[in-house]
Amino acid sequence: MPLTIASQLEEGFNTALRDLDARPTVIGVPEDRPWEAAASADILLARPSPAWRAARRTPRPEGWPGRLQWLHSASAGIDFYPAWMLEVPAVSCGRGVASDEIADYVIAAIYSHAKNLEAVRARGLAEWKQAPLGRVAGSTVGIVGLGSIGQAVARRALALGAEVVGARRRQLPSPVEGARLLDSLGDVIAAADHLVLALPATAATRNLIDAALLARAKPTAHLINIARGSVLDQEALIAALDADRLAFATLDVTEPEPLPAEHPLWTHPRVRLTPHVSSNYTTVRHLLFEKVVASLERFVRGEAPNDLVDVQAGY
Ligand SMILES: NC(=O)c1ccc[n+]([C@@H]2O[C@H](COP(=O)([O-])OP(=O)(O)OC[C@H]3O[C@@H](n4cnc5c(N)ncnc54)[C@H](OP(=O)(O)O)[C@@H]3O)[C@@H](O)[C@H]2O)c1
Repeated sequence: MPLTIASQLEEGFNTALRDLDARPTVIGVPEDRPWEAAASADILLARPSPAWRAARRTPRPEGWPGRLQWLHSASAGIDFYPAWMLEVPAVSCGRGVASDEIADYVIAAIYSHAKNLEAVRARGLAEWKQAPLGRVAGSTVGIVGLGSIGQAVARRALALGAEVVGARRRQLPSPVEGARLLDSLGDVIAAADHLVLALPATAATRNLIDAALLARAKPTAHLINIARGSVLDQEALIAALDADRLAFATLDVTEPEPLPAEHPLWTHPRVRLTPHVSSNYTTVRHLLFEKVVASLERFVRGEAPNDLVDVQAGY
């Protein structure tokens, strides 16, 4: 039986897959009806889309996962998908595709906050005033989640002369030389001048960064969330900012997305909100293709795809 891939990715991507040496049959599958792939495909390439939010409420389809042997998610996070969807022998994700782009976004946010060139912009003689600029070298960058994105941030921050401290879930050494793991999440938050959230949305991380942990932050600290809105208690964030217990927040992700029209985070003077753009996906789409091809070669050889997900852990 020829290898069949059901794909929710764009037609150009699918055409390029058809040209591979393995000559797979590539069929499209509707974003809101992924179960249609189960009867006819070995592999499902899925991407998170608004359609998934509806599918999350769909009961486990009869016959799922059927013929499917491997599900690959274009996104790094798998929190968009219904639980039944991950009941496929192998589940992999787009971990690493956008990590460098996201790390660059984080560094841009750190410099924007530290140097704040807009605040010292001189448009005439009246604004020709001396004011100190902040420093990145010598500051402490705290990173919660030292996976692919956290490591890319850590390497950059160390190269810029910052101290890097972090936390991860498993009792394993620091994955980046020079980045120190601290004993607790609270210790990371207390040490950070810039606190970067780079952990997955799982049952264990929902509202993990709550009022009690935010109370340990330096009043001058800058929080950056490029992970998922659900890992941060947004009400506690607003309370901390309003009480001068935290200086600023850069949020690329919120819960929900987008926020309701009247939500205070849109216009909060100490918040910079961006519409989930840090992955800069359109410019790194080719890396997703390379990742899928490398895993496909492994699959054809009977090996496990790269970047497998631990479905129980949720990432
Ligand atoms: N803004 C965007 O466009 C965008 C794009 C891509 C990804 N994301 C989000 O970013 C997340 C991280 O991506 P990634 O590629 O870096 O994932 P990853 O390589 O799987 O790394 C996840 C990291 O989080 C840590 N972690 C898990 N649970 C934790 C907990 N309870 N406390 C502390 N650390 C915990 C893991 O610890 P261990 O190392 O000990 O396992 C690991 O270091 C994704 O899951 C996704 O939700 C957002």
